[in-house]
Amino acid sequence: MSAPNRSYDPVGVASLEPQAVQECVDAALVAIAGAIDLEALKQVRLEHSGDKSPLALANREIGALPPAAKAEVGKRMGLARAQVKDALLAREAELTVENDLRILRDETVDVTMTAERMGVGGRHPLTTMMERMSEVFVQMGYEIAEGPEAEAEWFNFDALNIGPDHPARTMQDTFFVDSVDSGVVLRTQTSPIQMRALLERSLPVYVVAPGRVYRTDELDATHTPVFHQIEGIAVDEGITMAHLKGTLDHLATMMFGTGIKTRLRPSYFPFTEPSAEIDVECFVCRGSSVEDPSSPCRTCGSEGWIEWGGCGMVNPRVLIAAGVDPERYSGFAFGMGVERTLMFRHGVTDMRDMVEGDVRFTQAFGLEV
Ligand code: DAH
Repeated sequence: MSAPNRSYDPVGVASLEPQAVQECVDAALVAIAGAIDLEALKQVRLEHSGDKSPLALANREIGALPPAAKAEVGKRMGLARAQVKDALLAREAELTVENDLRILRDETVDVTMTAERMGVGGRHPLTTMMERMSEVFVQMGYEIAEGPEAEAEWFNFDALNIGPDHPARTMQDTFFVDSVDSGVVLRTQTSPIQMRALLERSLPVYVVAPGRVYRTDELDATHTPVFHQIEGIAVDEGITMAHLKGTLDHLATMMFGTGIKTRLRPSYFPFTEPSAEIDVECFVCRGSSVEDPSSPCRTCGSEGWIEWGGCGMVNPRVLIAAGVDPERYSGFAFGMGVERTLMFRHGVTDMRDMVEGDVRFTQAFGLEV
């Protein structure tokens, strides 16, 4: 049995020397003091006291020292590591307080601050106008009908007694879909719904149809290529022109107020016979410009009246095309511009205001939802 090798003197481990250990501690303390937030401190902890930190690596070397040296070096290392650990804990406490204060400051709600308001939005005045007009008829027992905006040429023209040579069919007025031969147009009027209503329903028929229509017009103060009409048709036994006049007068009163004057003026539409144009008293001069030449009215051209829409008794040819016996049934029809109605009712003088979509225009109508 051999005696312990007392002469064993391993080469000193450099990283365990007091100087080296102190350098590690100093570097750790500088890094800890420099950590600006908890995230940075986490990184510092990893680098200076983690498993792969210089102090931890040096600590592993203790095992290689002779037993006599172990105690002293062990104590030195213990103190060094404790010093780093304490500094980490102290800095962590400081940074936690700072962090809490920052959260309190950043997330403070200033209850006195004015809130940012979100506009509630509202429907376009033309939409509400169409609804108002339709509502007048619903109250009288009419149904609301709809038709396609891309319409068969037959419904838009032929069924309404507008023959192939009628000027309204030319390219000047009509948007054709695809090609002129496609047989499909963007409807130029809501009148095709007259025929659709007669074909789809059994008699008697009382229908109104508000909707969008298209014509190849340039946008200016009085024209727009896309506009709206409301169409009406009533077919029953014993319908006369007096019913037509009474119905339109009622609509005028509901739209423009009691006392509004209307007149029917003879006109021509291929699908009504007789046909008339319905005028309402000028909403600007109320007829005064006619008697008083010193104050001419630009709105009605000093006529005292402005054109509102077309109407008449449904042409028997239309009734026959729809399979309705004109000996037994008669009917009236009418169609008017919704934009015009809005202009008369609210004194809007430029159509472009209605199509541009500027919310300030809508706001003036009180943002009805
Ligand atoms: N559709 C015609 C137009 O756009 C207006 C019209 C006239 C409609 C007479 C009718 C009517 O229902 O009977 O000019």
